[in-house]
Amino acid sequence: MDKQISMASTTKDRRQTGSHRLVAFNELKSGVPYRVQYNGAGILLCLVEGVVHAVHDTCTHEDISLSLGVLCEHRLRCPLHGSQFDVRTGKVLDEPAEVDLRTFDVSVIDGWVCI
Ligand code: FES
Repeated sequence: MDKQISMASTTKDRRQTGSHRLVAFNELKSGVPYRVQYNGAGILLCLVEGVVHAVHDTCTHEDISLSLGVLCEHRLRCPLHGSQFDVRTGKVLDEPAEVDLRTFDVSVIDGWVCI
């Protein structure tokens, strides 16, 4: 269920309550990772069965953006060597990567994906 964001809240307050707007929810498409930048980190927003999941955009095998990869359902495939990650959990599903992706808590508030 969506929550209301107080128009009087400051940027600092919004960060503390996890309501920093990243992108409008209706911009997201299943199978198409959407890259955003937050606090200096690249984050991929992935829509899976109507739920938004957020993972770090950099492959844990080598330094490449996973936004160039392929998202099939919950599986995100790295474009360089083919490692696969579960965007719901960040877990490695297929090598050569051995380290899971960092995940981020996001929610949809008033039609916006927020962190
Ligand atoms: S850089 Fe991603 S699998 Fe090698």
